[in-house]
Amino acid sequence: MASPLFMTKSPDRLMREAEAPERQMKRALGALDLTALGIGAIIGAGIFALTGTAAAGQSFSSQIETPVINFISAAITGTAVELGRPGAGPAIVLSFAFAALACAFAALCYAELASMIPISGSAYTYAYATLGEIIAWIIGWDLILEYAVGNMAVASSWSGYFVKLLYSLFDVKLPLWLITDHRTALGVIERGGDALQYYSTTALPVVAGRTIAINLPALLIVLLLTVVLVYGIKESARANTAAVIIKTAIVIFFIAFGAFYVNPTNWHPFMPHGFSGVMSGAAIVFFAFIGFDAVSTTAEETRNPQRDLPIGMIASLLVCTLLYVLVSGVLTGMKHYSSFVSDAAAIATAVEVSGKPWVQAVISAGALAGMTSVLLVFQLGQPRIFMAMARDGLLPKYFSRIHPQFRTPHITTIWTGIAVGLVAMTTDIGSLADLTNIGTLFAFILVCLGVIALRRASPDARRPFRVPFVPFFPLLGVLLCFVLMLSLPVLTWYRFLGWLAIGLLIYFTYGVRHSRLRADVAASR
Ligand code: ALA
Repeated sequence: MASPLFMTKSPDRLMREAEAPERQMKRALGALDLTALGIGAIIGAGIFALTGTAAAGQSFSSQIETPVINFISAAITGTAVELGRPGAGPAIVLSFAFAALACAFAALCYAELASMIPISGSAYTYAYATLGEIIAWIIGWDLILEYAVGNMAVASSWSGYFVKLLYSLFDVKLPLWLITDHRTALGVIERGGDALQYYSTTALPVVAGRTIAINLPALLIVLLLTVVLVYGIKESARANTAAVIIKTAIVIFFIAFGAFYVNPTNWHPFMPHGFSGVMSGAAIVFFAFIGFDAVSTTAEETRNPQRDLPIGMIASLLVCTLLYVLVSGVLTGMKHYSSFVSDAAAIATAVEVSGKPWVQAVISAGALAGMTSVLLVFQLGQPRIFMAMARDGLLPKYFSRIHPQFRTPHITTIWTGIAVGLVAMTTDIGSLADLTNIGTLFAFILVCLGVIALRRASPDARRPFRVPFVPFFPLLGVLLCFVLMLSLPVLTWYRFLGWLAIGLLIYFTYGVRHSRLRADVAASR
């Protein structure tokens, strides 16, 4: 063995460990539940809150926002760096298609690994089996960006829609300082005008000489879902199925309703910033696809994981891709893309052209249902990854406990709920979505490489689902995900590398000393 850092767990050992009686969870989920869980995680803040920005582009305020791809090409050619993020315009449909293609290759790879190693922990577990302990740790740490940080962004966005719905349905206004974080509150006050209409007061209370503002709805929704998740997986899946039906219906309603208001002249120019706009848009809307992989974290609670996990992931991805391409085509046909600058509720804004306020309320309610189910699935996935890491000794054992009665990982569920709720309550969503995207793309790349590595290491292992054309399909997945990573802002890269550095510090001070795999290998020598 080259180095203990790259020690791998064989798929057999993983399966044996999972069979221990104290680890048994309730196997209650089938293929339909999993597809619903996938759609539950996929349709959310991405389509409802980020599509407008991706089509219109972002302000050209600071050089640091420049996507890496422009940065590199400017450095090579010596030309001026294009600032900000160019919008995709109506070609946002192509951005969605590109992001979906990258996800499709990754989904095939997830499906192969999930069907071979149907154990909670998702990419973290697969990396342990294929690429070695240190890579597994890096990916587990990286997945916090996808699940927990992603959910912080979604919770903030949830709160924004909630406030708008309260206002449009009941004319209820709440004080600004109770429903948004401090930075966003200052932004709202600075913008003034229409932005102030949703709040009963915009005066911020002063505590110890400083103004304060907290996003209470974001905290409360996360805590509420945490209670649901501790109570039980089947109950959680039921609540999720209801939300999925509502949001899918609303999305279809938007497509059908909006189609009557499309004015084809809005589709010109189709690609205002060429290829770089399409790619920049794809890197943003990639967020809208994140979630199909969360299905794999429920492997130990699925009745027939080998068959149902691949079905759940690929079916949910296909359905959502079709819906997104139609939504974004209709959206940019209803209103000119340039009108969506800084609009975090573009779908709701677009239906204004119909002059029917009830339509806007219905869309907002659907968006809320959509985001609630995203929150649910991610709050479900993160604790299961922590639990897997704790079982391996890379995190304290305390985090691996399962509730004696509910058979859910209650300790990690509660801690995740508190952490996500508190950060969502105090932080602006700003770059959280970008950070989520870069972390998730990196995880996808490692999963694609994992398929190739495991085909070499265990060519004869049983693979109920096989990716076709290995290594070409996994390598295409790596390439497309990397291009998307390069289309993200430079600042996101700095943050991402900083996050990984903190993770490595923890691994070398805690993980290496407590790893169970290392202890077992040392004992058997
Ligand atoms: N795909 C999820 C969403 O768009 C993360 O909210």
